Amino acid sequence: MSALVVRGLRKSYGNFEALRGLSFDVKKGEIFGLIGPNGAGKTTTIKTIVGLLKPDSGEIRLLGKKMPDKEVLRKVGYMPQDLALYMNLTVEENLEFYSRLYGLSRNEFKERKDEILRFVGLEKFRDRLVVELSGGMQRRASLACALLHKPEFLILDEPTVGVDPHLRASFWRYFRELAERGASLLITTHYMDEAVNCDRVAIVMDGRVLATASPQEIMKKTNSATLEEAVLKLTGYGGA
Ligand SMILES: Nc1ncnc2c1ncn2[C@@H]1O[C@H](COP(=O)(O)OP(=O)(O)O)[C@@H](O)[C@H]1O
Ligand SMILES: [Mg+2]
Repeated sequence: MSALVVRGLRKSYGNFEALRGLSFDVKKGEIFGLIGPNGAGKTTTIKTIVGLLKPDSGEIRLLGKKMPDKEVLRKVGYMPQDLALYMNLTVEENLEFYSRLYGLSRNEFKERKDEILRFVGLEKFRDRLVVELSGGMQRRASLACALLHKPEFLILDEPTVGVDPHLRASFWRYFRELAERGASLLITTHYMDEAVNCDRVAIVMDGRVLATASPQEIMKKTNSATLEEAVLKLTGYGGA
């Protein structure tokens, strides 16, 4: 069963067409990567899925419902590329803000916050102002906010940009753990070395999907040793 179906998505900014009939599906329990160079249309795609942008045409079905749908969005966790955190609130206050946004009860919030802070390794930093945290810690705080309400579907736009390799590896371990617990994940990245951790990827270029398959299949089909080489062959870009 598909958790997300995107069909023929088109979106223009003025007379520039950023999405040109883009289609892909994300299965339940899968980590799906939207990969491609900067400017490919990844963020535009994500923003149309979460309802921040209205597509010019095309269809989006998320968790069985035609989007936009406010009820479905309650089951979705979204980590934007530009982190949506309040810099002058503490980590815990940011979590509390999102908890209210998602409609969690006081008790649910209390139960969830410790688990989540432990999960992202920010227990000791809960009372720190976000502005005082390192970039990697801010990413972790943003991820914590996106996970607070146990979303069935997680959308993470470049979650590991500016995150050191050690932390990147631990993020990917979280992502796999969430998928194993039954969540579906849509992740964008322009780092090909981490895109191989996805179950399947769609290679996006100029607002279109050039190929959709597992990273291994894409490498095999293009006779490439690495995903980076495969993407280079398909797009003419190095992927970064
Ligand atoms: N608000 C905007 N106004 C005009 N052009 C935009 C806007 N946002 C993105 N674009 C353009 O749309 C294309 C796709 O951008 P984006 O979806 O951010 O790509 P990606 O996330 O893959 O880097 C790029 O050429 C970008 O310059
Ligand atoms: Mg982007």
